[in-house]
This record gives sequence, C-alpha cells and structure tokens, in this order.
Amino acid sequence: MSVGIDEISFYTSNYFLDLRSLALAQQTDPDKYYVGIGQEKMGMAAPDEDIVTMAANAALPLVEAVGSERISTLMFATETGIDQSKAAGVYVHRLLGLNPNCRVVELKQACYSATAAIQMACALVARQPEQKVLVVASDVARYELNTPGEATQGCGAVAIMITANPRLVEIDPEVGNYTEDVMDFWRPNYRVTALVDGKYSTKIYLKSLKKAWEHFREASPLTFDDFSHFCYHLPFGRMAQKAHQQLAKLNKSGLDAGQLEQQIEDTLSYNRIIGNSYTASMYIGLTSLLENCGHNLAGKRIGFFSYGSGCVAEFFSGRVVEGYERHLHRDRHQQMLDARQEIGYEEYLELYRYPDPRDGEHLEIPASTRGRFRLAAISHHKREYIEC
Ligand code: HMG
Repeated sequence: MSVGIDEISFYTSNYFLDLRSLALAQQTDPDKYYVGIGQEKMGMAAPDEDIVTMAANAALPLVEAVGSERISTLMFATETGIDQSKAAGVYVHRLLGLNPNCRVVELKQACYSATAAIQMACALVARQPEQKVLVVASDVARYELNTPGEATQGCGAVAIMITANPRLVEIDPEVGNYTEDVMDFWRPNYRVTALVDGKYSTKIYLKSLKKAWEHFREASPLTFDDFSHFCYHLPFGRMAQKAHQQLAKLNKSGLDAGQLEQQIEDTLSYNRIIGNSYTASMYIGLTSLLENCGHNLAGKRIGFFSYGSGCVAEFFSGRVVEGYERHLHRDRHQQMLDARQEIGYEEYLELYRYPDPRDGEHLEIPASTRGRFRLAAISHHKREYIEC
C-alpha cells in the first residue's frame, strides 16, 4: 500500500502589490526584485482575511469532494498563529462543518511544520489506511517596512489530503533530517513582524540542504539522477535556483545550467506572483509543478527540500501517480490568480497598518475578501469568522 498526497488546493488573497511599485517607492532598481531575488508580486491579505480564512478557503474544495464526515484529523501548520493556546484549526473545523470526532492540532517550526504534519499524517494513514488526514498550511509573511525582507512578503494557504493509494504523489518513507539551534529568522511573542539576519539565513538554508541531503542518502537508495524535478522551500525564487545549483555541484551532476533550471522552473511560477507563504510555500510550488509542467510527470520522482528557520530541514522524495492530471484544481487556481486586484503603494501601507485591537475593543471589519470565509469582527479579544 502506498501513502501520500491525494489532492491539493491552495488559496491566496485577492490583493497584490507589484514589486515594481515597491521598488519605485523605495527608489530601488526593480530588477533587484524581478531578477536579483526572482519575485514579481506579493500577495497582501485583506483586512478580513487571516490564516484561518485562507486555510478554510484552500480546504473547502477538498472537503466538498470527500465529504466532511470522512476526515479523521486536521493538522494546521503555521508560524503566524493568531492565538497562543487555541489551535487555528478549530475555527477551520467549524467553518468547514467537520465531524466532531475529527481531532485538530496546530504545529509550529517556522516554514518546516507543514512537512512535519505531512509525515505524521502519512504515519497515521499507514496505521489505519481508511483514514483521510487533512493537512493545511497557512501563513502571512510580514517584515518591517524598508528592510531587505520587505520584498519577500506574501500570503497563502495550501490544503493537502493525505490518504492510502493517493491519486497525486506517493511519498517514500525514507527521509533526511537536519536540526541546528541558530538565530537566522525568528519572531518573539510580542512582535507582529519577523526579525531576520537575511544573508546568514540564506547560508544556513544552503548548509541545511547539504546536511539533510547527506542524511537522506544514508537512508534512501535514490541518487540525484533518479529525480526529474525538485521542489524547494521558496522564500523567493532565486533561493531555490541557488540551492539547486549547490545540490547539483555536490553530486557532480553532468547536467548543464539549462537542464538544471528545467528541473525547478515550473515549481516557481505561482510563488513568483504570491510571495513567501512560509509553511505553504513549498507545497504551492509542488502545485505549480503539477499544474504547469508541459510534460507528463506520471512515474517521475520529485525531490523535496523543506526548510524552517531556527532551524529544521528535511529532504524527502515522492513519485507522481499515473492519471494525476485528472485530479488537479488548475482552472480554479488560475481563475483565482487572474482575478486578483493590484494595489498601489499607499493602499499597501493601509493594509499593512490595518488596526489590530489589543484591548478587547470591538472592531467591525468591512467585507473585502472574495473568499467564501471572512473575519467579520474582533470583539472582547475574540475573532468572529463567518461564511459569506
Ligand atoms: P538584500 O541583502 O537587500 O539583497 O536582500 P542583495 O543586495 O543580496 O541582492 C539580492 C540579489 O539581487 C543579489 O544577487 C544581487 O546581486 C541582486 P545574488 O548575489 O544573491 O545572486 N541584485 C540585482 N540583480 C539585478 N539587478 C539589480 C540588482 N541589485 C541587486 N539592479 C535578502 C536579500 C535575502 C537578505 C532579503 O530579501 C531578506 O532578508 N529576506 C528574508 C529572509 C529570507 O528570505 N531568507 C531566505 C532563507 S531563510 C528561509 O527560507 C526561511 C524563511 O522562509 C522563514 C521561515 O522558515 O520561517 C525566511
């Protein structure tokens, strides 16, 4: 019996800022963003959107397809949680009308935790193959204004159904892990925006890739040449290109620069116009590959490198299933991305500074998301979510 990804769907906000507008406001050359970091646009959450509404919007098509009674566990991966105690997934459980016997838990380790959730979900399904485990990963990436990280903001959520005999990607049991206590990127409880040692974080990302790959090679018979494509954690597109070049060099690959680029370029399309969505980003990259690759991927092996600052990294592998293309949400994703509305720099600042009450006051939030679920108010320290 194989276990893995049966269905995948993502959601992002209906607003975006073109990085040319950011560059203009900062008097920076737009090519620094378009070419230097490989990003074009960044998603900005509407005032009535957060990790809960984005996660529920991403998961709705999967729950509608399978039925709300069939899901035994909901795992919610995020690093931009809205509560220190209550799992964000409990709100999603209600919004999606899931079965009261479905367990819910939230997982955190920076951008890595969706991968931990997927591995744990695979273990649950291996033990009880009739189970369907829903993994959602949802984040709003926020840095201080006028810092190097600002251009790498973004927001998005992905929902992944883990089952036995999956229709999209079978996940192999062998993994390579690497953990090290470092301060490359972190967000103390009292801060809304992340702190980051940007250049150092890119070095630690590359070091973790080498270490996780070496560990993977001890566990798995697969070599670099066995993979047709690679999905990397995507803080920005250029990071994946650098990572892939390093991995190829480490393995003395005979592929030329163009062939190496082909192994990752289709994973970058969605993230280039959404930005970093932390826990969700590598899996939005996988969706981009499955939905945009011109070749039939059936039977092909994909390598995954998941990285979460702090840091924990994992390299693992999967095999694309015959007929996978019949189970994608390509048209809906494309329509959602095409229908997004561009905002100017001043509107971006307004969204960035939207009030976030801390004293229990009542804040009514006007409707602006086009999603099915929205945050309607914050009152007496409680967030009120509704279906539109
Ligand atoms: P920076 O230091 O301002 O940028 O910010 P830079 O000066 O290094 O320029 C970037 C690239 O653009 C360079 O290319 C420049 O040469 C090029 P490279 O040397 O890297 O190949 N460039 C240009 N190219 C064309 N035309 C131009 C031009 N100007 C410059 N005119 C930095 C870069 C990554 C530091 C910043 O964006 C940042 O701090 N980002 C946030 C941290 C981050 O994303 N780190 C990635 C690794 S950690 C990670 O992935 C985890 C994370 O997702 C969080 C989590 O796990 O929870 C972040």
